[in-house]
Amino acid sequence: MSRDESRNIEDPTAAERKLDHIKLAEASRIGGDQLDTRFYYEPMLSGHPSGDLDIGKTFLGKRLTNPIWVSSMTGGTGIAATINENLAKACAEFGMGMGLGSCRKLMHDDTYFSDFDVRKHIGDQPLYANLGIAQIEEISKDGQWEAIVELVKRLQANGLIIHVNPLQEWLQPEGDRYHSKPIDLIRRAIDQLDTSLIVKEVGQGMGYESLKALCDLPLDGIEFAAGGGTNFAMLELLRSDEAMKETYTKLANIGHTANDMVDMINQLMKDKTSDMPDLIISGGVKDFLDGYHLISKCKGHSVYGQASSFLKHAMGSYEELQKHVHAQVEGLRLAHTLLTVRK
Ligand SMILES: Cc1cc2nc3c(=O)[nH]c(=O)nc-3n(C[C@H](O)[C@H](O)[C@H](O)COP(=O)(O)O)c2cc1C
Repeated sequence: MSRDESRNIEDPTAAERKLDHIKLAEASRIGGDQLDTRFYYEPMLSGHPSGDLDIGKTFLGKRLTNPIWVSSMTGGTGIAATINENLAKACAEFGMGMGLGSCRKLMHDDTYFSDFDVRKHIGDQPLYANLGIAQIEEISKDGQWEAIVELVKRLQANGLIIHVNPLQEWLQPEGDRYHSKPIDLIRRAIDQLDTSLIVKEVGQGMGYESLKALCDLPLDGIEFAAGGGTNFAMLELLRSDEAMKETYTKLANIGHTANDMVDMINQLMKDKTSDMPDLIISGGVKDFLDGYHLISKCKGHSVYGQASSFLKHAMGSYEELQKHVHAQVEGLRLAHTLLTVRK
């Protein structure tokens, strides 16, 4: 056997690959100004990720194999049952946590209960029910806290997420109005409910003083739901008439990005001596690189969350979502191995 023949047996696609390299070299060029400057790339310090690499963490008292959260989305409409079942199955398979979409409907009517009833799919992973601050105000007025306890129990959830979304409600044609300060209502909910509580926005994030006020409460978690991704001010405007759009479109540009909010948390932590709530860094997180960057940079105990990026893959077969999450998790493990964050 000649030397060339034996080389071909060891590496049978070599000739084809070499030809590809020659043909594609020009098309592959990336300018220096397009490099991702968020990271140091350290190829000398690790091999490829191996099976024993552990990127998991204990979060909200439970072990997550992957530090990823499926942000609250849907329930109560045709396709929601499939979406929630797929998302819950992915959480069970990949060791992630999940917030349910607003469970308001279930307070009065069980027609759509099965859309939300995903404990059987998610196994022991964290699962949180979800209500808006307007419902918390109503419940607080009536003193009907038991209805929330019952909701969490029926869903076999680990606790409740309260979403605080004044811009969305204000712009939504059917939106609610509330007049109490959310921070007071949340304090009351903490006093009244013996369940784990998380507070979030819905896609515009929040400023320093709001974050600080939340961090000073004995909450279990804060989800940023920052701006930069799904924008519910814009979404409601898209559902509104032309006059509303013309007058209020600029409200959709109000808010804070997840990166800004991480800076705020890091600033807050400089003076803080007591425990901080666990953090779900979400809103505009497009992929594992965004998520890895934000959780690495954040000095608080954090995972990253995504809504619309999961939604895109959750509406069809479970296999489609499974393939997407698997690829994201593999990317995250690679990032953990080779990248550190520039401070
Ligand atoms: C279709 C859809 C429905 C949503 N419904 C809720 C909801 O019921 N309650 C809630 O707290 N947030 C809800 N959200 C907001 C998300 O939880 C998240 O905060 C927001 O979409 C920003 O994340 P993203 O940029 O990754 O999409 C919803 C988001 C989407 C895309």
